[in-house]
Amino acid sequence: MMKKMMIATTNVGKIKEFKQMLEPLGYEVLSLLDVKEPIDIEEDGKTFAENARIKAKTVFDILHMPVISDDSGLSINHLHGAPGVYSARFLGKDTSYEYKNQYILDELKQAKDRRCQYVCAIAYAKEDGSIHVFEGVMEGTVAFQAAGHNGFGYDPIFFYEPFGRTLGEVEEEQKNKVSHRGLALAKLLAYMEDPSCYM
Ligand code: IMP
Repeated sequence: MMKKMMIATTNVGKIKEFKQMLEPLGYEVLSLLDVKEPIDIEEDGKTFAENARIKAKTVFDILHMPVISDDSGLSINHLHGAPGVYSARFLGKDTSYEYKNQYILDELKQAKDRRCQYVCAIAYAKEDGSIHVFEGVMEGTVAFQAAGHNGFGYDPIFFYEPFGRTLGEVEEEQKNKVSHRGLALAKLLAYMEDPSCYM
């Protein structure tokens, strides 16, 4: 019988990504779109890891099955870590990223330190209720102007030195190999294949 895995999201892009990764390992991948009663999750953690853990625990406590959840965002040194865990809600959840990105560029006009990080935390609640968190970090700098239309969110202003361009200017595949999400996913996958690798 196939093992079931619940992905604690309704985001179709994330569901597709986890399906591609977990189905070859023999998992039947479910998501919150398959759950009849909507599950209300209060993301009130102070860190990405805390939020990912809260999501996994909330869903595990209701459904009693293995759960994977994630939380991610952009932290900017000059803004003392903002937008951080508020990345999706920064300046209002319905505000366009064109506006958010221009706001950040304006705030950083005189900044000496333009360093920033994308962070992704993935929490895995196992059948026994234990929760394991895996984190991936991608270091970059805030560009001097937005460039490119690839990716999403803050990608047009996230300058990645090894590529010599913003993430708005690179292909998805290229980004995924080095991204915060790609790194966290690789750690999760390694753990699922061999839990002793993190002992
Ligand atoms: P989450 O879906 O709650 O993890 O929210 C993540 C938010 O962080 C997104 O809505 C974006 O604002 C930002 N973010 C996270 N990862 C990326 C990325 O790879 N590119 C651009 N923005 C990102």
